[in-house]
Amino acid sequence: MTATTNRSYHAPGGLERAVIDLIRVGTQGHGAGVRQLASRLMRSVPAGVEDAESFRDAVHRAIAAGSGGTELRYVAGTVPTESDTAHPLVDIDPLPDGDGLVLSDEAMGQLTEVLTERQRADDLRRAGAGLTRTILLSGPPGVGKTMTARWLARSLRLPLLTLDLSSVVSSYLGSSGRNIKSVLDYAKSGPCVLLLDEFDAIAKRRDDDSDIGELKRIVNVILVELDRWPDTSLLIAATNHPHLLDTAAGRRFDRSLTLSPPAREQRLAILDYLAADLGGVDDETLALAAELTSGMVSSDIVRLWSLAHRRSILNGSTIGNELLSELARHLGDSGAGRNRLFLAMRDRLDMSNRQIAALAGVSHPTVASSIKRAEEDRNGR
Ligand SMILES: Nc1ncnc2c1ncn2[C@@H]1O[C@H](COP(=O)(O)OP(=O)(O)OP(=O)(O)O)[C@@H](O)[C@H]1O
Ligand SMILES: [Mg+2]
Repeated sequence: MTATTNRSYHAPGGLERAVIDLIRVGTQGHGAGVRQLASRLMRSVPAGVEDAESFRDAVHRAIAAGSGGTELRYVAGTVPTESDTAHPLVDIDPLPDGDGLVLSDEAMGQLTEVLTERQRADDLRRAGAGLTRTILLSGPPGVGKTMTARWLARSLRLPLLTLDLSSVVSSYLGSSGRNIKSVLDYAKSGPCVLLLDEFDAIAKRRDDDSDIGELKRIVNVILVELDRWPDTSLLIAATNHPHLLDTAAGRRFDRSLTLSPPAREQRLAILDYLAADLGGVDDETLALAAELTSGMVSSDIVRLWSLAHRRSILNGSTIGNELLSELARHLGDSGAGRNRLFLAMRDRLDMSNRQIAALAGVSHPTVASSIKRAEEDRNGR
């Protein structure tokens, strides 16, 4: 089984949750947060709203009518800025959105454990066991590392502070150590989730002699902070290249979690979640798409879906058909998946063998024999 968050506004009780979230962000005086929530409500109209179209319109008009609004401090103290440019060093998201996160049971189990620890913090502290304060998230691009940080922050009802180490290290190397220290101090000053994104950036340039002194200092600053990070906040470091990290650095985290490209059931869960938003895509098409997206990472699947969605609107077709057509265009293999796809295109999209052949870039006899094999498989021969 795979888990998805149940916090979607589409789910029953969505309207109530939206109102509560709005109050929470509004009372904190965070204009940007309210606007962000409003655009999320337009994207994902809550269950309980009768006329989605006029709801979107009204929300849109309300946002437009609002004045510029001022950014408020979220955590105690002033947001640290780069000294020369006054550019904020850290991105603050008061209401991060991790809806629809799908991970393996193992990964989701670990995240749930982190949440349970926080619910039972008193028990753990009393027993002297302590909570998970720091997490190292590894995995290839597009598997959901940043999204996992958003999901955790959202589940813990904490703001998410993001520091992109690659940009800090590349643009202000001379003062990086100081800048990073000021962000870490700021994040420690109030409960929040701090994401150190592109964490390997501090390891990457080790070979470059001119930078080595400064980078060593940065690594030391962070290692010291990891050891004394307060359990009121959660520090998450994300990296695509865990092998670049010092093994010593890796071991300093309370938990280390590796995210992998989605297996078939997770690909299906992602597609199911996306389809639930819009409806109208049948289970068979979703199952076929889940099979044919083998090898894709989660972000590829979401992108593919968005493409199909846009095309379905422009072409007056259905998302399911656009999804299958797009997959046919990029199908490299000639296995059972392709056979079934061709069969589905003929039967459900009403396409001729020639049309399928042109779309998939194969000859039409190939299409004919693929379809024949799919029919034989279907009939259990
Ligand atoms: N596990 C997942 N479940 C559902 N959607 C996902 C998942 N992973 C990624 N996505 C989709 O892809 C988008 C990009 O993912 P995200 O930025 O979290 O990946 P990442 O692992 O941080 O990649 P990178 O290494 O490039 O930073 C997300 O906003 C989401 O739409
Ligand atoms: Mg990321």
